[in-house]
Amino acid sequence: MTVTIVGSQLGDEGKGGVVDVYGDAADVVARYQGGDNAGHTVVHDGEKYKLSLVPSGAVRGKVGVLGNGCVVNPETLFNEIDTLRERDLEPDVRVAERAHVILPYHRALDGIEEAEKEDLAAGTTKRGIGPTYEDKAGRRGVRVGDLLDPDVLRERLEYVVPQKKALAEEVFEKETGEAFDIDHLYETYREYGKRLEEEDMTVDCGTFLQERIDAGDNVMLEGAQGTSLDIDHGVYPYVTSSNPSSGGATVGTGLGPTVVGQGDVIGIVKAYLSRVGTGPLPTELGGVEDQTPDYDPDEGAGDDEEALATQIRDEGGEYGTVTGRPRRVGWLDMPMLRHAARANGFTGLAINHIDVLAGLEEVKVGHSYEFDGEEIFTVPPTTEQWGRCDATFKSFDGWPEVDWAEVAADGYEAIPENARTYLEYISDELDTPIYAVGVGPGRGETVIVENPYE
Ligand code: IMP
Repeated sequence: MTVTIVGSQLGDEGKGGVVDVYGDAADVVARYQGGDNAGHTVVHDGEKYKLSLVPSGAVRGKVGVLGNGCVVNPETLFNEIDTLRERDLEPDVRVAERAHVILPYHRALDGIEEAEKEDLAAGTTKRGIGPTYEDKAGRRGVRVGDLLDPDVLRERLEYVVPQKKALAEEVFEKETGEAFDIDHLYETYREYGKRLEEEDMTVDCGTFLQERIDAGDNVMLEGAQGTSLDIDHGVYPYVTSSNPSSGGATVGTGLGPTVVGQGDVIGIVKAYLSRVGTGPLPTELGGVEDQTPDYDPDEGAGDDEEALATQIRDEGGEYGTVTGRPRRVGWLDMPMLRHAARANGFTGLAINHIDVLAGLEEVKVGHSYEFDGEEIFTVPPTTEQWGRCDATFKSFDGWPEVDWAEVAADGYEAIPENARTYLEYISDELDTPIYAVGVGPGRGETVIVENPYE
């Protein structure tokens, strides 16, 4: 059977922790979209591992699969595998032959276009994700399977590289180097192809996973980013270029929707919001320069609100892992979650980080929006409309700081009563049961109510 893990907000909901907890019972962990734009830290036997492409289960001896819906940077892939090997692990990673390859010109163009776009820039991770998916849809991409066949690889590069070079040089007036050189790319990527072949890493993903399921294995399908970053269901154009929502789990692995639909689809919810990048955020607290639309740092949002934002940001560690830049933060947004629950068909919820809000006198949620004089309960379809929404808040009594490790050990009833009221409101509004509650960053700090594999 499968269990699908999906971010219900804007990424960084703590999916890694849930994958970790439930992944114990899984034999195979497969990613179905995205590439090395995701980042997760796995702690195993007291050791910390930072991964952005290899599925975290690979650290724990599971088979890790990068599905056909992923975009794969072979350099990142082999760097991560080599680092794990240097630390005495033997990761078993398989890559779909149908997955697309991120080439150096994709990364270069991601940076060039972001700079050019100004107000339309999504604040991408500059890993070449968008340009690679563009080439996939434009039917000029290079797939992992093409790296195994020298003639096909050369043919693909000879067609596409001159176009990319002309785009960079003539449209964007940038200098190009070896990232746009056919011979250099051919030689480098043929070597990656040989290594993939030597290590027997490539698979026909759907067939591979179905055979494992038929043999009785538990498969976990791990989404990256979140539903509001989904290219179809998110805050377009401030989104990533793939489908983190659960539909992506079937298209991005080659398993049928009826197969994925027989298992659980678990929505990962952070108890408040955080956002890297721009776009509307009706429940935002305070603001962050260059990310919050129309934010004036001299005026701010009022001292109390800025102080609250800083408190949540500090408690939750909401700062970029690479840049150290503050992330935007806000109260929970129920219209965003209702939209996610419908688009994904959640069968269970894992609600994380309730410990971060502990100690606040009052906890608010955006229950609905006021949009052009009307009350609405889900997000409107265009981002401009979303930007005109004002959140209507509902208020909850706060809960105290407690020993969360003890709570995790004692179970759901040990969670402070006011926090349970908050959790049950979310569950009732989304008509979806709570499967787990995250009460701290550590592996043991999760209250498990339901195990989807049991
Ligand atoms: P891209 O995926 O690099 O193209 O970036 C597109 C948008 O998705 C940007 O707003 C990024 O900040 C956001 N994004 C991509 N990956 C993540 C993630 O793992 N967590 C949070 N935001 C992400």
